[in-house]
Amino acid sequence: MKRVAIILMALVCCASISQAKEKQSSPNGKVKVEFDVVDGIPQYAITYKGKDVIKPSRLGLELINDYSLLDNFKLKKAKKSSFDETWTPVWGESSTIRNNYNELEVQLEQIVPDKPKKEARRYVTIRFRVYNDGVGFRYEFPDQENLTYFTVKEEHTEFAMTGDHTAYWIPGDYDTQEYDYVVSRLSEIGSIFDTAYTGNASQTAFSKTGVQTSLQLKTDEGLYINIHEAALVDYSCMHLNLDDKNFVFRSWLTPDARGNKGYLQAPCKSPWRTVMVSDDACDILASNLILNLNEPCAFEDTSWIKPIKYVGVWWEMITGKSTWAYTDLPSVQIDKTDYSKAKPNGRHGANNENVKRYIDFAAEHGFDQVLVEGWNVGWEDWSGKTKDYVFDFVTPYPDFDIEKLNKYAHSKGVRLMMHHETSGSTRNYERHMPAAFELMKKYGYNSIKSGYVGDILPRGEHHYGQWSNNHYLYAITEAAKHHIMVNAHEAVRPTGLCRTYPNLIGNESARGTEHQAFTGSHPHHTTILPFTRLQGGPMDYTPGIFVMDMSKINPENGSYCNTTICNQLALYVTMYSPLQMAADLPEHYEKYMDAFQFIKDVAVDWDESHYLAAEPGDYIVVARKEKGSDNWFVGGVTDENEREMEVNFDFLDKNIRYVATIYADGKNADYATKPDSYQIKTGLVTSKTKLEIKMARGGGFAISLRPATDADKKLKNLK
Ligand code: NOJ
Ligand code: CA
Repeated sequence: MKRVAIILMALVCCASISQAKEKQSSPNGKVKVEFDVVDGIPQYAITYKGKDVIKPSRLGLELINDYSLLDNFKLKKAKKSSFDETWTPVWGESSTIRNNYNELEVQLEQIVPDKPKKEARRYVTIRFRVYNDGVGFRYEFPDQENLTYFTVKEEHTEFAMTGDHTAYWIPGDYDTQEYDYVVSRLSEIGSIFDTAYTGNASQTAFSKTGVQTSLQLKTDEGLYINIHEAALVDYSCMHLNLDDKNFVFRSWLTPDARGNKGYLQAPCKSPWRTVMVSDDACDILASNLILNLNEPCAFEDTSWIKPIKYVGVWWEMITGKSTWAYTDLPSVQIDKTDYSKAKPNGRHGANNENVKRYIDFAAEHGFDQVLVEGWNVGWEDWSGKTKDYVFDFVTPYPDFDIEKLNKYAHSKGVRLMMHHETSGSTRNYERHMPAAFELMKKYGYNSIKSGYVGDILPRGEHHYGQWSNNHYLYAITEAAKHHIMVNAHEAVRPTGLCRTYPNLIGNESARGTEHQAFTGSHPHHTTILPFTRLQGGPMDYTPGIFVMDMSKINPENGSYCNTTICNQLALYVTMYSPLQMAADLPEHYEKYMDAFQFIKDVAVDWDESHYLAAEPGDYIVVARKEKGSDNWFVGGVTDENEREMEVNFDFLDKNIRYVATIYADGKNADYATKPDSYQIKTGLVTSKTKLEIKMARGGGFAISLRPATDADKKLKNLK
């Protein structure tokens, strides 16, 4: 019986649907979707410029204690429509975004066998939106008699590849995306997994050919394909499990504590499954497909949402120089009613004097906010938590004067940024939220960096399950009621929800700069993240490290940041985010004030973005125009190889002459041996200028441009 099923499946997978009943094309005709029901099983396929991108692939869901939504379907009705609208994001890579697609809606009827006719009919709609840069599709479950509450055992959406593509992947995991990327053939994933990821607890439950999305792929013919999801709401996060004999990816949802993968109640819908495609890697970076598939902004008034450039009492804890905790005593030995009785460890970072120092630095150099981590009680045993009530989010340590420090910051035109480490105790956080937000309002905070380190409580839930996903959204919408912006670390990787809830100004959900202080990240890391993690929304990557050798901060820390200073500068442009941190210590910036000038100048919100050159895993060059000004900023990063890039300034206004300041790797710069070698050149450029710029190994370059004035007359043209 099993063999028959396998043969049947194989037949279904191989059958061409070139005679498909239903087709839809993108507005420019280059991307096409085909849909049909073959032997009762729904199938789709995608082509780009006539070439297969996704071969015929099945669609459906397996249910628990119920007949599955996998077969016995027939096509009832298909509807086509078109949509073209330009919308204005609250913040973004450009000031307007065009949402232009052709839609195919297929209404399916399922007849459940062995049921009386009246009880047998169920309905599922699959909606395809076909864009010039790819396709989104989702399952919709309309209001109906015979399908109301149902539990998902697994979603069976397939993405059948045309060959053994190159993949830029991180391993499947229900709780974290904080991995270095692997670049390999699809056929190599299994064996790499075996050697690289053994013993990782959250993966034992997972397949060894499981990978996370957003997944970037490249075919031997030079097609760039990206698979992800959009609008992940009230559903589990999707991973992809690879059948590495046939190169077919199958959706693999995150289970809950019972192993179930989703609880749905019709009418409802799944998130969008997305496939971007182009023969130009720059198109993948410029794509707005994920944002476009999300719902419009849910807030009428967005005037309180503002991009933020910030510094923070943070890197000193990350590198181990100072501590989050006030005391080294375990919490059981602390009198919680009077923390000042506990012996201080003398290394607490969030103390009044130190915080003041950061406020002064922020004010002097034009930063909006100062993040202070470790300000509140509970850090003594937060990571080894055995109970779920570690933090209350309202009680400061005795050496952090919340009132005075906020007043001091405000008097200098700076705000403090709140920090809520939940330690994964999500219910505890929800319980304390009202009081925590009230405290913030009282002292004038308008943004939170939150975090979900460690196993989720309630026990058995995962960071990427439906339950946790609902929590993250609850935190965002509750914060919005208080006009508070949220930057959540260790939450599920984003899927474009920042369009609907633009107070979600950042997420981590990938390996950020902090890992440079733990083990060091591969130099190609930031040439991949914009293709993958950043597809769903901005990342609080926390760039700006100027001193790469961590032992200079903490002799016990042997880690090293695998980049040059110019690479760090470029990240403010290549890693798009409306929230940017200057992560290093003030005293390090003071040593390199000329290079630091770029971080002071660079914008965090944009009118236009132009991707000039890109290859995943190798390099990215992008130019962006500051919102509401004529200033431009350009950033370029390379991987572990040095390379020469020609920058063509034809994106500039033809009628303006600009003063360009170029921050480039020095002659002998090298991430491993000479990361702080750089040269800064200033001169005039126009839209006709072309410049060759060399990037060192692990290096990069940054350029700021502003319209020239009479005072700049004596400057030379750059060549
Ligand atoms: C992990 C976050 O990514 C990091 O930025 C933060 O400092 C720690 N958690 C503590 O909350
Ligand atoms: Ca983290």
